[in-house]
Amino acid sequence: MNKSGEHMTELRVLRYDPEVDKKPVYRSYMVPLAGSVLGGLKYVLEHHDSSLSFRYGCWGPGYERCGACAMLINGTPGFSCKVAMQPNGTTVEPHPKFEVIKDLTIDFDREQTGKRKQTKPSSRISIDSEKCVGCRDCVLLCPMNVMQMEKIERKGKAKVADPGSCCGFTCKLCVAYCPPGAIHMEALKVRGQK
Ligand code: SF4
Ligand code: SF4
Ligand code: FES
Repeated sequence: MNKSGEHMTELRVLRYDPEVDKKPVYRSYMVPLAGSVLGGLKYVLEHHDSSLSFRYGCWGPGYERCGACAMLINGTPGFSCKVAMQPNGTTVEPHPKFEVIKDLTIDFDREQTGKRKQTKPSSRISIDSEKCVGCRDCVLLCPMNVMQMEKIERKGKAKVADPGSCCGFTCKLCVAYCPPGAIHMEALKVRGQK
């Protein structure tokens, strides 16, 4: 507990400033347990280190999601304004799909390049384009670049561009985060399976 009676927990942040640091390092900060990971990062900024860099946009009651706060939270891509701080500590790293500008701030226009392992799809993913509101959450959060945006009748819609890269049923981030529930996944039978 801190002096104000708040329960505190550890927030580990992968820090890296390409202009001065040779390599990224984890730094730990004590932050209030109550609230979101984004709240914890703002606490770090206000109480521990004003040089910490991260993005957010729509955070606040009544606002829609903007996707700016996407990062890796305890190893899983997520929106830091939507994920709660964990009592046993929380580790945050920049979203691995994009180039790092500084700390958790990534360049959404520059994706990391590199070959991804192609596998036979173990699930069928479909997107109901009538329901899709074009928020781009699935494209941002999918760690495997399965989804892409396309224009249909001048509106942005998500499409399944690379089903062979999907992890199958291990992550399901796209399904969990899609606001209107437009993404559907079903298991494909593997040969020999009953
Ligand atoms: S379930 Fe597949 S398509 Fe959905 S986020 Fe995970 S890897 Fe991407
Ligand atoms: S499928 Fe869902 S998460 Fe993806 S862009 Fe459409 S509404 Fe957003
Ligand atoms: S700040 Fe907009 S989605 Fe998190």
